[in-house]
Amino acid sequence: MRMVDVIRKKRAGDELTAEEIRFVVSGVVTGTIPDYQTSAWAMAVCFTGMTDRETAELTLAMARSGDVVDLSAIRGVKVDKHSTGGVGDKTTLILAPLVAACGVPVAKMSGRGLGHTGGTIDKLESIPDFRTELARDEFFAQVNDIGVAVIGQSGNIAPADKKLYALRDVTGTVESIPLIASSVMSKKIAAGADAILLDVKFGSGAFMKTAAEAIELAQAMVAIGTEVGRTTVAAITDMDQPLGNLIGNALEVREAIDILRGEGPADLRELCLALGGHMLVLGGQAADEDEARGKLLAALESGAALAKLGAMIAAQGGDPAVARQPELLPQAKERLPVPAAADGYVHGIDAEAIGLAAMRVGAGRAAKDDAIDYAVGVELIAKRGDRVRAGDTLAYLHARENDEAACAAAQIVRAYELGAAAPAAAPLIYAVV
Ligand code: URA
Repeated sequence: MRMVDVIRKKRAGDELTAEEIRFVVSGVVTGTIPDYQTSAWAMAVCFTGMTDRETAELTLAMARSGDVVDLSAIRGVKVDKHSTGGVGDKTTLILAPLVAACGVPVAKMSGRGLGHTGGTIDKLESIPDFRTELARDEFFAQVNDIGVAVIGQSGNIAPADKKLYALRDVTGTVESIPLIASSVMSKKIAAGADAILLDVKFGSGAFMKTAAEAIELAQAMVAIGTEVGRTTVAAITDMDQPLGNLIGNALEVREAIDILRGEGPADLRELCLALGGHMLVLGGQAADEDEARGKLLAALESGAALAKLGAMIAAQGGDPAVARQPELLPQAKERLPVPAAADGYVHGIDAEAIGLAAMRVGAGRAAKDDAIDYAVGVELIAKRGDRVRAGDTLAYLHARENDEAACAAAQIVRAYELGAAAPAAAPLIYAVV
């Protein structure tokens, strides 16, 4: 088989056979197909799409390109959760202990941040001494013992996706529904959970800019999950502004603790209750979302969810006192106010721009091996619907005062979309597929 023929066939919009798809995936992993041909093929997929059958074949071939984790040594229905990426999205830090406190075992592998979006593993590593690398047996034993563990994704989960994604990132071929769906689902399938909850974001800070695109992506992923026997549910959620108020690694851990204490911003709390509700139903711990909500609220009110976070931190080598005293987390030297340039109502906050501003002061990395500063980030004061006057504080930058901070502050001001009249209310959860 020749790669050039497969590229031509895809360019013409014809359906590839399973054999042709496996040829592409294995060539990507072994390096027998050069990057320029893989990129040309990805671009052909971007333009001509894939049938459901092709997308399912691609997903399975990528899932099987490396380790496929067997979680059967862990008791109970294991439910995984995945967000398609956002800014200020610290839901895993909240949901993992929260649903574990309600009886759903969480054996979660998470990623690091790259570009403007944060990663759960970087956030957890802002907790002094927290270990995100556990041996397989230790990982399983911890979940059986305390119900929850969150670790870094092993280097050998879906290596085909890792290579393909890196190429897509630099060849303008990320934004393709079959490519995103197969990329996400290959990792979820390889990670071994019985059921999968997807949080598909749309808006300024997401790959999918509209709800309609997000629904299409969600349907593609649910179809793949169903096809391979994993119950999959997708919530379509808003990313037209960052989630919650704090963006940055230690800041996001702090806000997660606020929610687990029964405090914190309403949007983040509501999203966690809704996503957690689906996880409890998927995990067989609630008959429906109403019952699930009651259990989740009880775990927040009793302190059981916060205690579960403390237990997870202790089991993974960190100081569990952080769960009760978040001031033990790294803190930036300064908290610099960012004033509004004009009067108006906040209509939206470009989440990508806020993520880039946080990255600029050191919260994220531009390249894989960059060091990050756990303490820095952005604290949003004004959110959508709020009325501000010129000079009011829109946000605080947690950073050292220097030229980078000044550029980041200007970027934050530009990220705010202000209008003369109050904006219409927008639902946080747009649909469930
Ligand atoms: N997240 C992924 O894991 N893959 C994509 O292609 C896009 C977002």
